[in-house]
Amino acid sequence: MSDRKLRHALAVALLAMTASPLFGGEKKPHEAGAHESSTSLGFTLPDVRTGKPVALADFSDRKAVVVVFMCTTCPINNAYMPTLAKLSKDYRDKGVQFIGINSIPVDTTAEIVAHASKNGIDFPVLHDPQGRVVGQFDARRTPEAFVLNEKREICYRGRIDDQFGYDFRRTKATKHDLIEALDAVLAGKPIAVAQTEVLGCLISRTAPPKKDATETFTRDVAPLLQKHCQECHRPGQIGPMPLLTFEQAESWSGMIREVVARKRMPPWFADSKIGHYSNDRSLPDKDRETILAWVDQNCPKGDPKDMPAPVQWPIGWRIGTPDVILLMKEEYDIPAQMPRGGIAYQYFVIETNFSEDKWVERAEAQAGAPEAVHHIIAFVAPPRDSKEPRSLGPPVLPPFLPDARYATVLCGTAPGDMPTILPAGYAKKIPKGSRIILQMHYTPNGRAQKDRSRIGLIFAKEPPKRQVLTVPIFEYRFQIPPGDANHKVESRGPWDYVSGAKPGLDRDAQILSFMPHMHVRGKDFAIDVIYPDGKKDDLLSIPHFNFNWQNSYRFAKPIDVPKGTVIHCTAHFDNSAANPSNPDPTKAVRWGDQTWQEMMIGWTDLAIERK
Ligand code: HEC
Repeated sequence: MSDRKLRHALAVALLAMTASPLFGGEKKPHEAGAHESSTSLGFTLPDVRTGKPVALADFSDRKAVVVVFMCTTCPINNAYMPTLAKLSKDYRDKGVQFIGINSIPVDTTAEIVAHASKNGIDFPVLHDPQGRVVGQFDARRTPEAFVLNEKREICYRGRIDDQFGYDFRRTKATKHDLIEALDAVLAGKPIAVAQTEVLGCLISRTAPPKKDATETFTRDVAPLLQKHCQECHRPGQIGPMPLLTFEQAESWSGMIREVVARKRMPPWFADSKIGHYSNDRSLPDKDRETILAWVDQNCPKGDPKDMPAPVQWPIGWRIGTPDVILLMKEEYDIPAQMPRGGIAYQYFVIETNFSEDKWVERAEAQAGAPEAVHHIIAFVAPPRDSKEPRSLGPPVLPPFLPDARYATVLCGTAPGDMPTILPAGYAKKIPKGSRIILQMHYTPNGRAQKDRSRIGLIFAKEPPKRQVLTVPIFEYRFQIPPGDANHKVESRGPWDYVSGAKPGLDRDAQILSFMPHMHVRGKDFAIDVIYPDGKKDDLLSIPHFNFNWQNSYRFAKPIDVPKGTVIHCTAHFDNSAANPSNPDPTKAVRWGDQTWQEMMIGWTDLAIERK
């Protein structure tokens, strides 16, 4: 019997057991569980580390057992690993045993072992690729915790606490549900909250494909994953789980359904009714319906002959082979833990030693330690006597840097953003004798590492028609009151910070793209242009800004804007307690580098006639 058939047979067998109140079967999520079990639970599964069978009954001397459903990839699951490792240690001497169950078929034993040791998990982790124990507990998501009392009845099921969710990470949990349940059980008291909702990744439960299924993986779904998902969901990229094969897609089908239906994936935040963007990642409705139908039909595989050839993804540099690679002179030591007060932005100066002006068509920044580099911005600092058009910027670079005032942005990295790839005939200038300044924002992730980041450049074959400048349309004179859920800040530009002259373009130009930038209190961001005759055009609207994604929005066609045009940005900030990412709703917030301070910048790529 093939693996898949075996799993179907087991799924059918499990459904047949639904007569017992223990087995969730067709019940709605979370109906089963707390206080309900009349039959005692039991399982025996191999420990991933030793291969030896471990049974629930082995821990009969323990006062309570916590069974946690885990996986190796789900971001929320992973965020909780340090908490789980600590809880298991804290409660061991109180007679509590933690057991991890991994029911994800595509997680291999080797991956589960590596994941556990990387996260300091020292309790047994059992592999349940056939989903037997998931069925027994009717577990829905990773990480879902079940507290079993001395009689081995489920007396709590749900989240560990409320620290992590889709799109938010609190600095500290405000509700400690698992701890409260454990303390109550150990004290022989009733549990106040016996069931809570779990945020995390759905564990897929397989059933045979429906007979009247119309969609297949190989013919209908694989091409969509190639087009819309694999840019990030392949090894080495930022998407947590690879989505290359049928097994991977089937294994995550429940979660794929959820993120696609809720439009969380692919990540794209601009209102596509307002502008047309060449890098629009949003999923067309028709493609969304295909993916949803395929999951609802229980993931038919289809004819292997229909499977499209794998996409040949660029290896190394996404811009192609660079003409020049510029590297930080020395390594920077990133500490394991974020020191109190954070790590100030670090600046590294790289001499280009270019003896002639260079025109850059493509530029890509690459972090040396990607896991702990939040962002890089690479600036071009031309020599003071070069009379280049300035970026008209805010004090984004500290004055102690050489020629910081004249620096323009070359390229950067931020989650979800792409390298700079300009259309033919457009290029950024690196005047001869320039230096490159890297602004680095380091965010330690628990492991001390060394970073030596670099940028790759591809030069235009001939001098371009137009010169591209990245201009910040910013406002730094704001103060967001404590608790304010909708504080408005506007900016107008381009504005010469040095002369303080009235905002507006000093010559005809074209707008190529925008990249709104705010921090964790950022709520929405909109950009319009006001022409010299007073007419107005809306160019970009981000109704739900998400700090985790610093996307740039590139127009399908450059937008002509005459001299005198003002670019106008409107942003709102949520400094209330209702914003889970808000580190402190009781504080007034002003402009500053660190993520607990705020920024308000509409980065704009403008093209001007080359001199
Ligand atoms: C631009 C990169 C990118 C693209 C394109 C993308 N994803 Fe993701 N995806 C991510 C990242 C990053 C995360 C992790 C988010 C986090 O850490 O919270 C994620 C998370 C997920 C998750 C886990 C659940 C979650 O919310 O964390 C699923 C499932 C998923 N993506 C499916 C898809 C599918 C299906 C597509 C295509 C239709 C897709 N993604 C396209 C980057 C991407």
